[in-house]
Amino acid sequence: MTNDRAVGIHDLSFRTGSLVLTHAELSKHTGASVAKYHKGLGQQAMSLPAADEDIVTMAADAAAPIIERHGTDRICTLLFATETSIDQSKAAGVYVHSLLNLPSNIRVVELKQACYGATAALQFAAALVQREPEQQVLVLASDIACYDLDSPGEATQGAAAVAMLVSVDPSLVEINTPSGLYTHDVMDFWRPNYRATALVNGKKSMAAYLAAVEGAWHDYQAREGLSIEKIRTVCYHQPFTRMAFKAHRHLLDTAGVEADATATDHAIAPTTHYNEIIGNSYTASLYLALASLLDAEDELDAETLGFFSYGSGSVAEFFTGRVVPGYRAQLRTTAHLEAISRRRDIDYNAYRRVHTQPLPDDGSQHRLPHQTQGSFRLSGMEDHQRIYEAVHVSADIACSKGTHRRLTPTV
Ligand code: CAA
Repeated sequence: MTNDRAVGIHDLSFRTGSLVLTHAELSKHTGASVAKYHKGLGQQAMSLPAADEDIVTMAADAAAPIIERHGTDRICTLLFATETSIDQSKAAGVYVHSLLNLPSNIRVVELKQACYGATAALQFAAALVQREPEQQVLVLASDIACYDLDSPGEATQGAAAVAMLVSVDPSLVEINTPSGLYTHDVMDFWRPNYRATALVNGKKSMAAYLAAVEGAWHDYQAREGLSIEKIRTVCYHQPFTRMAFKAHRHLLDTAGVEADATATDHAIAPTTHYNEIIGNSYTASLYLALASLLDAEDELDAETLGFFSYGSGSVAEFFTGRVVPGYRAQLRTTAHLEAISRRRDIDYNAYRRVHTQPLPDDGSQHRLPHQTQGSFRLSGMEDHQRIYEAVHVSADIACSKGTHRRLTPTV
């Protein structure tokens, strides 16, 4: 059965790593001016995973409040998008399925295309729900952005997971058609199976990102998408937050609109609050931009938002969504701010130790210290298997019903 009801994001929740390194601390050791990080990249701090955290624990932590609020009866599919896969065969979502005690009659699969994977998951979820309106899909986007020490990419690391429940008659954002699509084979950022850190050609990746903005927008227009004037603002994938400002200026140029710097800053700034203190979270980054905008602005009822998703390599998509009137009653602003403020500040030496601590690959028994602030942990490894456990399943801190024009960074 197909239907004409609106389909989109019914609920959204995110969590991040339990450790944080500020760019002020990083700059003392890299020799770069802190202004380069704060102004040039638009980054204040980066989240890092504690020893007992990974993409599974962060994703389970992000999804648990959604399950608490909506139950599991209607969930038919769990889509897990990541660049930071932990297994060549088994989907990370199966571990989350187990940690959250989800019913067995659910399909679980993992998707990969660099930072674009979550958008593919969202669109596939929308199509499934369109086909069977009584069903819901849980979309998880979870990543740990990790570059070589002392490389230019080092300042653009981060870690976070976003969970979204996709359903008919959504409470947050209805996803519109058409989408503008763009795929181009380019080696701007990649990670061969034998590497823990990404390889990147930084300048080439920025040029490839902007070319994708242009390509996806042209395709969106060719498919009779909305004119730029009808779109209130655009949530971009944010490898670092200045990239979103650059991308928006490029989009306005491409759309033939004179780009006024103040207006551009005003439009994009509300989408950057979370990413500037969390850092790059690959697949999750675009949806952290959406969370930031929804949590920060209280007058978005019925507004049309643009979304630009970019995954190096490269695949990109431009689409729009309509903010559902009354969305504020469903937000999780307090819990989001709590996930950020509970992070433990670490210094540069501790950061380097965290960065260079791989898990054993010889199948030996390995226990991990309890460091996470989250509700799930990777307790160790044995026989080449990751062992997870629930710490405690707490009720969501609160769902915000108030006005939150400003999201206070805790760094
Ligand atoms: N005060 C203010 N600004 C300063 C400054 C100072 N003292 N010093 C430098 N800056 C500015 C520079 O002018 C520059 O701004 P513009 O780009 O507007 O000119 C900015 O700070 C960065 O300086 P550099 O270009 O010198 O920085 P860098 O060579 O160290 O590299 C980078 C920056 C390429 C982004 C690098 O961090 C990197 O490779 N990051 C990883 C790749 C990446 O994020 N690519 C983005 C597109 S790809 C993508 O989106 C997918 C993904 O997630 C990876």
